[in-house]
Amino acid sequence: MLKTKPSADDADLSKIYYSKPSITELEVQYAQDAAANGWADNCFDYLNRFEKEFADWLGVKHTVATTGATGALHMGLVALGIGPGDEVILGDINWIASASPIVYVGAKPVFVDVREDTWCLDPVKVEAAITPKTKAIMAVHLYGSISDMDALLDIGRRYGLPVIEDAAESMGSRWTNGKRTGTMGVFSAFSFHGSKTMTTGEGGMFATNDDGLALTVKALNAHGRLPGQTKQFWADMIGYKYKMSNIQAALGCAQLQRVEELISRRRDIMHAYKGRLGNLPLALNLEPKGTVNGYWMPTIVVNRDVSFDRDALIADMRAHNIDARVFFWPLSMLPMFEAKPENEVSYSLYPRAINLPSYHDIREDEIDRVCDVIRRHV
Ligand SMILES: Cc1ncc(COP(=O)(O)O)c(C=O)c1O
Repeated sequence: MLKTKPSADDADLSKIYYSKPSITELEVQYAQDAAANGWADNCFDYLNRFEKEFADWLGVKHTVATTGATGALHMGLVALGIGPGDEVILGDINWIASASPIVYVGAKPVFVDVREDTWCLDPVKVEAAITPKTKAIMAVHLYGSISDMDALLDIGRRYGLPVIEDAAESMGSRWTNGKRTGTMGVFSAFSFHGSKTMTTGEGGMFATNDDGLALTVKALNAHGRLPGQTKQFWADMIGYKYKMSNIQAALGCAQLQRVEELISRRRDIMHAYKGRLGNLPLALNLEPKGTVNGYWMPTIVVNRDVSFDRDALIADMRAHNIDARVFFWPLSMLPMFEAKPENEVSYSLYPRAINLPSYHDIREDEIDRVCDVIRRHV
């Protein structure tokens, strides 16, 4: 019989969080230094350093630090000239933050079904969804999995459409050509939210190799003042202010110094889950041959032919003091969009899937505890 209530022993067990950043003395030192000294002539020191070091690490020409991936996507869409009447294609299973910026600019998000194995856009269905109004394809690399960039870039070339990469969840992932996610599209966006592989509390990054886009986004992020504009308080266009603060950037510099350690820990945690759950009738985050998955968030998807109650599993995990997260909903299910149940894979995935705890300092015995609960439900 399923155990749904914790025993006296379980109740004593410490809470297992689904995510929690790894903050060491280095992050504290940098943030303290920025708070104490990062003002007046030094007010952009950590910010400039973070943008430069992130660009070097990623392998792109230009970066602009932002308040989050949402702002980076928003400004990138504006810089591409996407607006009312336009359509942007993206996967139906997604976090709302990928779609909202498309709505902010007055364009329509067109939700296309995803692949069963990567949970990312299905290129065959992307091509079928292209209309004369389509102005871009947004490849979201979900939970660290990589969209099929060869196929999407090929479609982009054939139809003259820019491919945008939402790399908010894919720090550390690499495509078959060895390139990091976020370096292959016309521009990309990263998130440094507290749940992400590296964090600045809240924060994000716009990245591109396109000189013109970079210049426009730099201006947009400074209330429309073009870089090099010498007239004080003069705006060249209506812009935004999605700026990261110098103190957040100090945290970012420290996390970036540790980024390979942070990514490698995510991979170790994923392998620990794969070792324990691999014999159950479920799929875990895929790493297609020749790619590297940054494994931001370990996820199980129970096989279609298995009777499974997602909510019962989540309730059981909570009863055992374990955080659990539902898989993203198909965005077309949300009240502000038109339902698209024909996106059969997306509508079938979410009730069969949950995300598992994966914070940096999670212990082997805690992973055992999570897997023990899962085994009773699958
Ligand atoms: C796929 C995806 N896109 C965009 C975002 C937005 O990032 P932020 O919260 O940094 O604005 C997130 C954040 O959770 C995300 O997961």
